[in-house]
Amino acid sequence: MSPVARRPRVVAGNWKMHKTGAEGAALAHELVALLGARPPCAVIVCPPFPALEAVRAALQGSAIGLGAQNLHAEPRGAFTGEVSGPMLAAAGCRYVIVGHSERRHGMGEDDALVARKLRAARRDGLTPIVCAGETLSERDQGLTADVLVRQIRAAYEGLSPAEAQETLIAYEPVWAIGTGRVATPEQARDAHRIIRATLERVVGPGGGAAACVLYGGSVNAENAPRLFAEPEIDGALVGGASLEAASFFRIVAAAAAVV
Ligand code: PGA
Repeated sequence: MSPVARRPRVVAGNWKMHKTGAEGAALAHELVALLGARPPCAVIVCPPFPALEAVRAALQGSAIGLGAQNLHAEPRGAFTGEVSGPMLAAAGCRYVIVGHSERRHGMGEDDALVARKLRAARRDGLTPIVCAGETLSERDQGLTADVLVRQIRAAYEGLSPAEAQETLIAYEPVWAIGTGRVATPEQARDAHRIIRATLERVVGPGGGAAACVLYGGSVNAENAPRLFAEPEIDGALVGGASLEAASFFRIVAAAAAVV
């Protein structure tokens, strides 16, 4: 049997609606100081739009990647208050979060719109970080697999295995986000397996095994080592614990320790 290539480890920080430009630059400088020019695994930070430029400048010369938290599906046009992929790319972003539950459930983004945004990101040269996850009531009703299959199918239908591999996926159970109630490694493992099996069916053979699937939802420096010990978990999308350099650094270190 030929050895299976290890999937890359990725830790991404989703700053949500936190940090001005100055605050974001200060945090980015701290991260560069802690992680050095070459972090031990792939590291991404996703500041709010107005902080992108200041954070980009602060990250200059480091391998920490810059991402945005959302994009519009159209490249330009009369869409007041929206930001397009080409604008993000020009601002130095290489990544963009797509379909975060706070947008699915708080801003009415449906599966079809998430699919369009995934394609828009790819069209505009950005790596999408595609989020999927069930609510607590869906989990309680035994619908976790149904929800994950539906969300992943809608987002990835029509992509090839190679195209799917150029994206990142984040399994983010809605009940774990910002609640302090982290999924167990077993719960995350099972969900990641469902996501991979779905991808295998939707994009074709190899698409699931190669996909880089992160876990997100109340990840912190204490629980990260246990999560990363699970081979199905390729990294983390971190909210609250990414807002301080010390805690984010410890999560990155935990991810790198199990490579
Ligand atoms: P949290 O957020 O780490 O604060 O739970 C994760 C996310 O929403 O991406």
